[in-house]
Amino acid sequence: MMEYSLDSGASVSDNSDSIEMQETEDMSDDPFCNPEKPVRVTFEEITSAAYKIRSGIKNTPCEKSHISQLTGMNIYLKKDFLQHTGSFKERGARYALLMLNEQERRNGIIAASLGNHAQAVCYHGYKLGIPVTVVMPLIAPIMKIQKCREYKANVIIEGKDMDEAKKTAYKLSKEKNLTYINGYDHPHIIAGQGTIGLEILEQVSDIDAVVVPTGGGGLLAGVSVAVKMLNPQIKIIGVESERCASYSKAMSNGSPLFTPIEGTLADGLAVPEVGYNAWETSKNLLDKLVVVKEEMIALAILRFIENEKCVVEGAGACGLAAILAGQLDEFKGKRVVLILSGGNIDTTILGRCLERGLAADGRLVKCRVTVSDRPGGISELCKIFGSIGVSIKDIIHERAWVASDVFSVEVIVVCETRDYTHSVELRNLLRSKYKKFEFENFPIESTLVATNKDLFSDDLDP
Ligand SMILES: Cc1ncc(COP(=O)(O)O)c(C=O)c1O
Repeated sequence: MMEYSLDSGASVSDNSDSIEMQETEDMSDDPFCNPEKPVRVTFEEITSAAYKIRSGIKNTPCEKSHISQLTGMNIYLKKDFLQHTGSFKERGARYALLMLNEQERRNGIIAASLGNHAQAVCYHGYKLGIPVTVVMPLIAPIMKIQKCREYKANVIIEGKDMDEAKKTAYKLSKEKNLTYINGYDHPHIIAGQGTIGLEILEQVSDIDAVVVPTGGGGLLAGVSVAVKMLNPQIKIIGVESERCASYSKAMSNGSPLFTPIEGTLADGLAVPEVGYNAWETSKNLLDKLVVVKEEMIALAILRFIENEKCVVEGAGACGLAAILAGQLDEFKGKRVVLILSGGNIDTTILGRCLERGLAADGRLVKCRVTVSDRPGGISELCKIFGSIGVSIKDIIHERAWVASDVFSVEVIVVCETRDYTHSVELRNLLRSKYKKFEFENFPIESTLVATNKDLFSDDLDP
């Protein structure tokens, strides 16, 4: 392990001539992210970053949330999705750009990103007059790609995932003499992300825990150093999606390990291997790591929209997902800060998230009922739904593959209910009227910690 210092200053462009290109690009010679010599970012670097970026970054609000009563905790939301490009990534990006020397600024930089780091370097590069190239994988959300183009950056769409995009970016950095800036592991990026921790501690007193969405680990690393230095009693909780659990893989392995990732609502966290500097910096400061299920992320996005009037992307909603799933129950009655790290979500994906969230919440249900095919059979079924105020969204009749008598029809109904209890009422009513019916994925009550009515009770703390 090597302590990193701000003037250690090796640059990708300095050694580009001496490096042989390979079929599969070897990134172990990135001078800032060397697995053999991981660096631990220090508190002093974070305070230095805070000073340098202060004129270009918003000090976003960290406010008590309406969700407090719903969760039984005093929840504070650090709203970093309110940064200009919609994510905290601007902090590290601006700091890394400001730390380039004159030659590097002229040559320009290159980065690989699923979107938020790309948008951040494109925007701040544009503001600071530094040429920026970004390589985004094919799976990057369209809205994020579009935004990068608006900031006049050179946008290359290549690679099936982040791993491939990174390799392309690194290869180009050497060919074109550009400085490669890793979005979660470059020490300047980690230091920049840590500034969010400094702000949180100035904004909220007596914090018990800070919950940090975790992908490559840069945010977690920076925030843990800042928070633990100022108050070692505060617990640091990392959260990642079950579909890209690379930090938990690193924990069980004892060091970062490649983890295949699957499509996730938390696309910002889809990094297959935790950064080595991020790991070295955070591994002894982290108190707990939570892996959340996709449906809870969808539910958290829904809760933010309905209760906070905030559009938060999947990655940013993971902290609340963990709480809704009961994975942080030890903090009931305590003061917990959730970092809402980003708000960039494609509108089409948002629509799908909300539907999944409603399904996870027991408010959108699908059932199959076999009814009489005689005149009035289907209309009677519809009346039953209407009699208890359930609204039918979609209805399909199936005759050809019904196994029972020819005078029966199977009706598939998708409907909206008020809440889980209302769905149970519907199920009981159908049970009393029909012999053959079933629900698809009827929600399990234990996953639903509270219903909306609880929101109208008094806050926990005055
Ligand atoms: C919105 C959002 N939250 C959290 C993260 C995780 O940050 P890190 O990769 O530094 O762990 C990212 C990463 O891109 C992100 O975009």
